[in-house]
Amino acid sequence: MSAKTRVLTGITTTGTPHLGNYVGAIRPAIAASRADDVESFFFLADYHALIKCDDPARIARSRLEIAATWLAAGLDPERVVFYRQSDIPEITELTWLLTCVTAKGLMNRAHAYKAATDANQAIGQDPDAGVTMGLFCYPVLMAADILMFNAHKVPVGRDQVQHIEMARDIGQRFNHLYGNGREFFVLPEAVIDEAVATLPGLDGRKMSKSYDNTIPLFEGGAKRLKEAILRIVTDSRAPGEPKEPEGTALFTLFQAFAEADESAAFAADLRAGLAWGEAKQRLFERIERDIAPLREKYDALMARPADIEDILQTGAARARAVAIPLLAELRAAVGLRSFRDIARAATPAADKTEAAKPPQFKQYRERDGRFHFKLIDGEGRLLLQSAGFAAPREAGQLIARLKRGDAVLSLQGEAVHVDGAAIGELGDGVHLDDVHAALVALAVVEG
Ligand code: TRP
Repeated sequence: MSAKTRVLTGITTTGTPHLGNYVGAIRPAIAASRADDVESFFFLADYHALIKCDDPARIARSRLEIAATWLAAGLDPERVVFYRQSDIPEITELTWLLTCVTAKGLMNRAHAYKAATDANQAIGQDPDAGVTMGLFCYPVLMAADILMFNAHKVPVGRDQVQHIEMARDIGQRFNHLYGNGREFFVLPEAVIDEAVATLPGLDGRKMSKSYDNTIPLFEGGAKRLKEAILRIVTDSRAPGEPKEPEGTALFTLFQAFAEADESAAFAADLRAGLAWGEAKQRLFERIERDIAPLREKYDALMARPADIEDILQTGAARARAVAIPLLAELRAAVGLRSFRDIARAATPAADKTEAAKPPQFKQYRERDGRFHFKLIDGEGRLLLQSAGFAAPREAGQLIARLKRGDAVLSLQGEAVHVDGAAIGELGDGVHLDDVHAALVALAVVEG
């Protein structure tokens, strides 16, 4: 095994990439993939796209455009393992193995699903109206994407962090249930790049398809790029009047492409009265300088889809070289073994009964009248100390959820949180993963 950090990320293939996607995701991911100490797996999450879109023509077009965009933007398919999710049948197979160890209650709490049920309830609909099992199980498919390749780091947007936590939870559960001391899965970490600014759109809000304020990246060529830039909202200061560049969409867009000294010169000119119209022309020229060569590559790639297919098939073969052997082990671990091997199949259950004393929850009442609990491990070490609850039922319900595995724990400073509320603190020297491990061990003994 190499000592490199494995970085994996998925790109949902819906829509056509815009400038915000380029600056916020594509450009930094490709730059990061050039580091020597990383091994990057980038893939087109086209199964995830099916959850959001049932128009086959759009699905087909979007995955081609997105593949061409990443390649044109400089993704090196020799260096990065670049593939389509749907070309790796092991991912769907792993999804089922993981589905069988995932608590339904954990999925109930996924943000995307909750947003859908909340929206239904707000208009008096059945909470699950229009919710497919695809949407409900989205985080399990995503966990399979990540765990299949034992990714250490997963660069994602903030909205995806919960999914990474769920992948850790699911991976750890599988490791404990079937690993017999072996860690089949690396527990992944979300990486959010704080340095990458979100790009403003035409109206100054975050550039996003849902606000209809995007600037196209390659589609429509230089002409569409220029038209979009001319529509950027500015104030009504006349030519010759000084303009404050800081915080304007126009200047922020310029900075996303220019070096610091170019930006400083541009800002000085705006303060000296540069007209907005001319400023837009300069912004267009600056972006076009970076984008034009990439657009040329993009157009060439789009004209040869069979070449893109070859690149992705090579990527799929490399990805499957990792996935196939791991999946074979996982199948054997859960008991899906060849009958030829039956004589060798020792029952792992025996090990479990020899395990050390299981962790336990202890509930008690403090002098202040509030109800608390502790989670201690088999040796009596304090893992988790709860806050005080007004009623014993509250403490009991939380313990039940923790045991069922449908409460997502996260750490914020010193405090352990569930569903955004602080519920207690870790014991000295204890990591959140120790708590997760104890909860899984407890679930195993209690069945
Ligand atoms: N859900 C992610 C998004 O919408 C895309 C995605 C799918 C992904 N599978 C993944 C990201 C695995 C990282 C790792 O952005």
